[in-house]
Amino acid sequence: MVTGVIDWVDARIPMTDTWNKHLAQYPTPVNFNFWYFFGSLAMLVLVNQILTGIWLTMNYNPSAEGAFASVEYIMRDVEYGWLLRYMHSTGASFFFIVVYLHMFRGLIYGSYQKPRELIWVFGMLIFLVLMAEAFMGYLLPWGQMSFWGAQVIISLFGALPVIGDDLTLWIRGDFVVSGATLTRFFALHVVALPLVLVVLVFLHIVALHEVGSNNPEGIEIKKKKGSVPESELSKFKFHKQFSGKKDIVDAAPFFPYFVVKDVVGIAVFLFFFAAVIFYLPEGGGYFLEPPNFEPANGLKTPEHIAPVWYYTPFYAILRAIPDKLIGVIVFGSSVMILCFLPWFDRCKVRSIRYRSIWHKLNITQFIICFIILGILGALPATPTYTLISQICSFGYFAFFALLWFYSKNEKCKPVPERITK
Ligand code: HEM
Repeated sequence: MVTGVIDWVDARIPMTDTWNKHLAQYPTPVNFNFWYFFGSLAMLVLVNQILTGIWLTMNYNPSAEGAFASVEYIMRDVEYGWLLRYMHSTGASFFFIVVYLHMFRGLIYGSYQKPRELIWVFGMLIFLVLMAEAFMGYLLPWGQMSFWGAQVIISLFGALPVIGDDLTLWIRGDFVVSGATLTRFFALHVVALPLVLVVLVFLHIVALHEVGSNNPEGIEIKKKKGSVPESELSKFKFHKQFSGKKDIVDAAPFFPYFVVKDVVGIAVFLFFFAAVIFYLPEGGGYFLEPPNFEPANGLKTPEHIAPVWYYTPFYAILRAIPDKLIGVIVFGSSVMILCFLPWFDRCKVRSIRYRSIWHKLNITQFIICFIILGILGALPATPTYTLISQICSFGYFAFFALLWFYSKNEKCKPVPERITK
């Protein structure tokens, strides 16, 4: 009967075909390593955010009068409400941890290079929407940091010439952050942006499956088609099922090999996720900031306003520039420049394993600058910290400029034809 139903559906939509092509039999490079866990983990966290978000919305009250109290109600009175809320708030930080590691993988293995530029561009759009999604979500508990954080960030748009004032008014829906801002952020956070995210993730995967996955060696596995010679089978033991067929020789089907691998990654991830939810739900004040346990008060500015950790590298760049307008432009550019990474890198070799020492040094200095900026963005701006932020902002942008110069004629090691490690 089951086959009957499947055949009936298959005659109408290509269900089994799609399942096999994009999941079960998706040709996956055999050398996927640790860094390849984070795509599937990002999907897992996305599903977690959507599901816990739906259940939180059932008891949340999107009004300036009721928001803070409704979150307290969820925490204290709703059955397992505390768990739903912590899964969602911890989930937001874990989302960024996972996505940053996922981006880092793309950076070191050159996964953004031709023909995967669009995968990267869709990824960057996801990243931008994710930042907006988290920013709007953070206003919803209507705590002190929600209110003042939104106040600071929205007022940045005021620095733009001519349209600045009208634009901030349009975003807030009021002359100050108010109930009008809260309801529109709620609508965008709960309905509009999650929809956009899901569509973008779909396009990200469509783009990936059109050209196929890159891998830690940066070898184009699709170029090597043919039957696996018997003599090689022991070396490429995954390929027994491919032997004798015209197929990609350095790939194995996604099911069962990479499903099993990803399940291990998911188990380890859930261990850390649960540990934070149950033992450190505020993430030491980094995931949920202490002032946010006080209701929003427009008459009392918190002593130190800092964005949540995942924005701090970019926030530090903003604060490093003394002029407000130039600061806003440089801040915007620091995020947008990442979209153009595929065109800054003109090298033919992808993986860091075969690239020059200059490239390795450049990536290292870029990551060090990014981490230092992240730390400084969470601290109050002293003259010394501002100077260090300026140096690191320079290092951040220098990464792209240097990459563009040396990558054209970079001296790389020869890349093997087949995957052997
Ligand atoms: C909601 C967020 C995201 C989800 C759910 C997601 C999902 C995935 C999945 C499932 C894969 C295939 C498995 C893998 O290669 O790990 C993948 C590949 C990829 N993603 Fe993402 N991604 C997200 C965000 C991003 C971002 C922000 C970027 C970069 C700007 C990015 C860049 C890439 C690249 C370049 C690949 C191809 C990697 C390769 O073949 O080596 N992704 N993504």
